[in-house]
Amino acid sequence: MVPGPASKELGESLAKGLKIPIVDVEPKVFPDGESKLRITRDVSNKALILVQSTYPPVDRHLMQLLFLAHRLSEEGGQVHALIPYLAYARQDKEFLKGEVVSLAVVSRLLKSVGVKRMVTVDIHSSHGLGFFSFPAYSVSAIPLIADYFRREFRLKEPIAVSPDLGGSTRVEAFAKVLGSKHMALKKFRDKFTGEVRLEEEGLDVRGKDVLIIDDIISTGGSVQKAAQLLRKAGASKILVGCTHPILVDDALKKMREAGVDECVGTNTIPSPISKIDVTPTLVSYFKSIIKGENR
Ligand code: R5P
Repeated sequence: MVPGPASKELGESLAKGLKIPIVDVEPKVFPDGESKLRITRDVSNKALILVQSTYPPVDRHLMQLLFLAHRLSEEGGQVHALIPYLAYARQDKEFLKGEVVSLAVVSRLLKSVGVKRMVTVDIHSSHGLGFFSFPAYSVSAIPLIADYFRREFRLKEPIAVSPDLGGSTRVEAFAKVLGSKHMALKKFRDKFTGEVRLEEEGLDVRGKDVLIIDDIISTGGSVQKAAQLLRKAGASKILVGCTHPILVDDALKKMREAGVDECVGTNTIPSPISKIDVTPTLVSYFKSIIKGENR
């Protein structure tokens, strides 16, 4: 296990779960922002899990991942890149003419530095996996998130809500574990300004506990708008669960002010709300790879 500088703690926890040794990395960041990395052990001809999440500073973490993968491959290591939060996964289409499909570039970069397999958690859309010309897989943290809410809260008539139609499959999977109803709101994002607008008529949430489920919380704008709408429609409690709590600036404050009672995420990204540990799901995935089950 090679824990990159962005995922040291998670890497150590995975190594413990998989009972495999750790290869330490010595990271340095120079005053001008350049990263320099040193691998402290001989890794020649070994199968390696390089874990590095690409949360902000996104490009620094991505470059560190590429540098490490390159060096490990040069040493003859077979690199499985575990990227708990895969940056640029939302840029998987040319939404406006002339836009760069950045995820396609990221996938090529990973291949060019010798990555043999890419594994992430809850990729924004499964469509993104199609850009990888080598094995690429997304494991789901949704059952862990649903379990967390079932354990920690006494829920009254729970209903799971996705803030957008793109999250329909995700919220359905969540509701199945929780044994609740589910629905998806209609979200429109201005392609130029990024501003979010939600439309929904006839919401039946009065007196119910609502769980908003999303893959990413970045600025908190999507959840803010959803929470305002659900409060207005008479929701009793509003709880939020996400896989990747990026939480830019005052995202948490914004969501609280919009009526969110509790917001929880996983540790694909370290944050004040990263209370759900994805280790068990990732350990079970890699155990199946080690056993030779083809996933
Ligand atoms: C978008 O389709 C994603 O699923 C998330 O809803 C979005 O990225 C959240 O971003 P923000 O918190 O900035 O609204």
